Amino acid sequence: MTFRGVLFIMFYLTHTSGFEPRPDIGSPSGLVPDCPGVMKNASIGSTTLPLLQITLHRMTRSGQIVRKNYPISTAHLGLLRDKNIDFKNKRTVFYAVGFLDSSLFPHSQAIGTAYAKRGYNVLISETFPFLLDIYPKSVRIGRVIGRKFGEFLVKLTLQGLRAEDLELVGMSLGAHIQGFAAKHLYAVTGKKPFRVTGLDPAGPCYRGLPPEEKLAPTDGTRVDVLHTNMDGFGIAERLGQVDFYANGGEFQPGDIPYIPCLILCSHIRAMFYWWQAIEHPKKFIGMKCDSIQAARSAKCYNNSDINYLGNATDFNNKGIYYLPTHNEFPYYRGKDGLKAENEIYTSVAKYINAEDDFRV
Ligand SMILES: *[C@@H]1O[C@H](CO)[C@@H](O)[C@H](O)[C@H]1NC(C)=O
Ligand SMILES: *[C@@H]1O[C@H](CO)[C@@H](O)[C@H](O)[C@H]1NC(C)=O
Ligand SMILES: *[C@@H]1O[C@H](CO)[C@@H](O)[C@H](O)[C@H]1NC(C)=O
Repeated sequence: MTFRGVLFIMFYLTHTSGFEPRPDIGSPSGLVPDCPGVMKNASIGSTTLPLLQITLHRMTRSGQIVRKNYPISTAHLGLLRDKNIDFKNKRTVFYAVGFLDSSLFPHSQAIGTAYAKRGYNVLISETFPFLLDIYPKSVRIGRVIGRKFGEFLVKLTLQGLRAEDLELVGMSLGAHIQGFAAKHLYAVTGKKPFRVTGLDPAGPCYRGLPPEEKLAPTDGTRVDVLHTNMDGFGIAERLGQVDFYANGGEFQPGDIPYIPCLILCSHIRAMFYWWQAIEHPKKFIGMKCDSIQAARSAKCYNNSDINYLGNATDFNNKGIYYLPTHNEFPYYRGKDGLKAENEIYTSVAKYINAEDDFRV
């Protein structure tokens, strides 16, 4: 985070705002709930537009990763000419990175490679030069970026990409960018992507916005959301048809499990859970909750109604899910996580003061 970004957060933490969380998301109201002016117009000039790019991330037969960048306005032409991409016979994933994030960073590449290994055409957004400004300005330009991506997807569908073969995944700000891209695709073609996945969609500046101004459950035929820092850099409200609240949705367990990792660490953990969920389709098992408040307090250990994070999600079983994880990589807990006695914070905490007498 830039120095100005830190100042901004400090300013907002010390100022009250008009945002009142609805009872269904529970309290607190969360970090930087709203940002005046964020819905105002924004645009990208013709000289900067070529910096907005799509990265083709592919794996060669020998397992080597090869990347190639295409400027957004002509990306569809370049990709259609690229003999290493096959929109007709393969599924396509388009992953949108977040604030201060890049397609070059190892976590973006890890997610891309997980899909490439499974035979997908893999596209990753390159938005780094646009999402560097103070955060609320990045939010404002995010809407424009999303629309540009939507236009790009429209061009691809006109050239043979079927919306049923398209999966959009977005991290943080990138989740809302994908929401805008999907909305544009639908507005123009009447088709929705097969799936839209939000990885800890950004909360700051978005909490008070209406569904048209952020990722929404109707943006894809299937929409799933993973919440890992919902009152900090993420968002508490449901934006999907299936919403997973990892370890309650707010703080993720750290290396020492009773000390959770904090805001940024919990936020970016969403990418690691997703990467591993793609690698291990039925290992991240969530259990259904009655409310977000129940997920917050880990009161969902019914064990009857479960769902999987990742490719195996059952979208016929929509709802709120509490997702238990391990505190260490690769994080998944499988069926062990479904036992209430294994809940990560309480199971560790109960041993700490287990002895009846404590002498020092
Ligand atoms: C917003 O920006 C777009 C693109 O530059 C422009 O066409 C439109 O007229 C602008 N709208 C307003 C209200 O300024
Ligand atoms: C889980 O069980 C509790 C009590 O055992 C019940 O109140 C609650 O409705 C159940 N939740 C779901 C989602 O089935
Ligand atoms: C998801 O499952 C479908 C159907 O089994 C399969 O075609 C696709 O390759 C899977 N995708 C991933 C990322 O595992």
